[in-house]
Amino acid sequence: MKPLTIFFACIVAFGIGCTDPEVPVTFDETPFPLRTDNLPDPILPTDYPLSQQRVSLGRTLFHDGLLSRTGTQSCATCHSQIVSFSDNRRYSTGVRGLQGTRQSMALVNLAWSKRGFFWDGRSPTLREQALHPIIDTLEMDETLDNVIRKLSASRLYRDQFIKAFGNDSVTPERIGIALEQFMFSLVSAQSKYDRAVAGFTLLSESEERGRQLFLREFDPTYKRKGAECFHCHAPPFFTNDRFMNNGLDDDASVVDLGRELVTKSPSDRAKFKVPTLRNIARTAPYMHDGRFSTLEEVVEFYNSGVRRSATVDPLMQFNLAPGLRLDERDKADLVAFLKTLTDDQFLTNPRHRMP
Ligand code: HEC
Ligand code: HEC
Repeated sequence: MKPLTIFFACIVAFGIGCTDPEVPVTFDETPFPLRTDNLPDPILPTDYPLSQQRVSLGRTLFHDGLLSRTGTQSCATCHSQIVSFSDNRRYSTGVRGLQGTRQSMALVNLAWSKRGFFWDGRSPTLREQALHPIIDTLEMDETLDNVIRKLSASRLYRDQFIKAFGNDSVTPERIGIALEQFMFSLVSAQSKYDRAVAGFTLLSESEERGRQLFLREFDPTYKRKGAECFHCHAPPFFTNDRFMNNGLDDDASVVDLGRELVTKSPSDRAKFKVPTLRNIARTAPYMHDGRFSTLEEVVEFYNSGVRRSATVDPLMQFNLAPGLRLDERDKADLVAFLKTLTDDQFLTNPRHRMP
């Protein structure tokens, strides 16, 4: 038979995307080459090294509505690539039409995130985290038994599990590991900022002023201005991977206890995971509850709106009234700098897209 005839026979017999039944599907441990650019190499779990097949299975699962009860919602519904795998709605809506109370988080450079996942860090590992949205009634509202049944019924998935893990047994652990590996592969380090650091381009005058403000400490004698951002949003990840209270609320107005919900310690009240600022211009609205819709509002908050409370971070001392005293130009420059952290290659990389 000519290849084309085989192809059409194949479609008739097995549906689109079928594999040639003559070719046995085998375990394929080809390593996945993680492109880290100027970032240090991450320390990853060693039980399952990153493999092309596991990343590829994770990518398919991430974009598949099959993981939800209704078949309509995938991880990508609330973590959309073009907005850095986050969601532009304030609160995401799950398959029951119910809303959560937190904003979706961008999924960027999680291979270096070591202190816990979710705004309050309640999941210790990414593979464990990945199963929560599936069973969360406010999100995908499905049972793991059903997911396993649906995946096992698919010849394509069984083949993918063989290639990724050596046999076609579909288990929650394997689903978690595959999703974890896909999320490890989401590396963003090719923004204009990175190109400028590497010497391939120059920041504009305004961006460069913003960069200096971002990286400088506040000077109480007012000889030089500084915005103090780098303490917590430290380059090159633009996060210190810690839980902190940046002063959004005072003790009386706190609604979400944040990290305290996990540790049960009042000293962790209203502390949240410091989010990365990579691709921040694309991930509005901002903060765990999406209360700010623009970067201008965020910068004004740090300039003049930080509230005092028992657990506000000591690093926010200069943000408390009278505040950083940034003028209009300073604020515009800071926003201009934040926009240099957008990495269009990452946001449009076909390797991260729905397969
Ligand atoms: C209905 C919307 C929705 C769906 C569907 C969803 N997520 Fe999320 N995701 C969120 C929200 C909201 C948060 C923050 C929740 C919190 O902190 O309590 C989040 C947080 C995360 C985080 C934490 C990131 C970090 O830096 O700590 C990861 C990882 C993640 N989701 C992965 C996934 C995966 C994998 C799937 C599919 C299995 C998925 N999400 C499905 C809305 C969603
Ligand atoms: C003391 C540590 C700290 C400092 C200093 C700090 N931040 Fe933050 N930042 C945080 C924390 C914690 C959050 C998340 C807070 C929340 O959602 O409750 C955050 C959130 C943000 C967000 C929203 C991110 C998102 O994904 O929603 C932006 C933008 C931001 N910070 C920019 C800045 C800028 C600009 C500066 C300097 C003017 C700065 N931060 C200084 C800790 C800090």
